[in-house]
Amino acid sequence: MTGQAERRLVVIDCDPGIDDALAILYLAADPGVELVAIGTVDGNVEPELGAENALRALEMADLRSVPVAVGARSPLLQPSRHAEYFHGQDGLGDSALPPPGRSPSTESAVEQLVRLARLHPGALSLLAIGPLTNVALALSLEPDLPELLREVVIMGGAVFGPGNESPWAEFNIAHDPEAAEIVLRARWRHSVLVGLDATRQAILDLEGESKLAEAGSAQARFALAMLNQQMRANSQFELCDPLAAGILADPSLATYRPMPVSVELEGRHTRGATIADRRVTLAEVVETRPQVQVAMQVDSRRFLGTFRRRLGAPE
Ligand code: RIB
Ligand code: CA
Repeated sequence: MTGQAERRLVVIDCDPGIDDALAILYLAADPGVELVAIGTVDGNVEPELGAENALRALEMADLRSVPVAVGARSPLLQPSRHAEYFHGQDGLGDSALPPPGRSPSTESAVEQLVRLARLHPGALSLLAIGPLTNVALALSLEPDLPELLREVVIMGGAVFGPGNESPWAEFNIAHDPEAAEIVLRARWRHSVLVGLDATRQAILDLEGESKLAEAGSAQARFALAMLNQQMRANSQFELCDPLAAGILADPSLATYRPMPVSVELEGRHTRGATIADRRVTLAEVVETRPQVQVAMQVDSRRFLGTFRRRLGAPE
């Protein structure tokens, strides 16, 4: 049994977003995880709506005292482009779920992250599943953040395969490439990049949807309501953020390749691309830029079974 003291302390920085909300439910149901706080960032939707959706997910998980703080309302440099075309006008698949009973805290997500990192030195894990604007701003507010946090697990990028926002760039990185470059060059104690190379192995298909429907749990019904629009349109849903959450909670779900990863900022066609230096056998490569653990092979069957179980369905 996991005692209170051994539970992993986790802050989520997100842009809910259907899969962000699913990631919140996933971690909320993990007995080895204590959700300390949530911050929202401009991405899929603007951060105020993201905060409302995070509060909806927390209420669904019966977590009514976990604070939600609103963060950056735009990327560091480029204009914002939201993703209602995918996540719906309400950010949750136009599921029209009831409004939350709580409001976001008055603290900003950036101040919240820095305060909690200082409060729990070396013990706090950060799950970053939206654009990295808040994390970049937190680094400028607290330059010792990489030492203060236990680890950072990032959903973002595409190292070996194509992007989704463009042929080269994944959405979270493409939304704020400058922020992503600042975050990926920082010397974290431990950093994991869960990119599309991994999340393309975490697909909810129609069979998985029907298994969720058999669960009958409130969480499964909430998930199905959010997923419905996309499942009817595409017959599948890539569980990007839930996989990053799963990997934070259980790193054995994937294999990793340590590599320095840079973000292209200048390319006319490639801006936002994540470029890994695979020459890591060269000592000077590692000296000039820290390595990130890039998630490679995923135990898809085990992840998808755990995902369903966390939502109250049979494996
Ligand atoms: O590319 C997928 C990522 O972009 C996910 O985090 C999704 O929520 C969107 O933010
Ligand atoms: Ca997200």
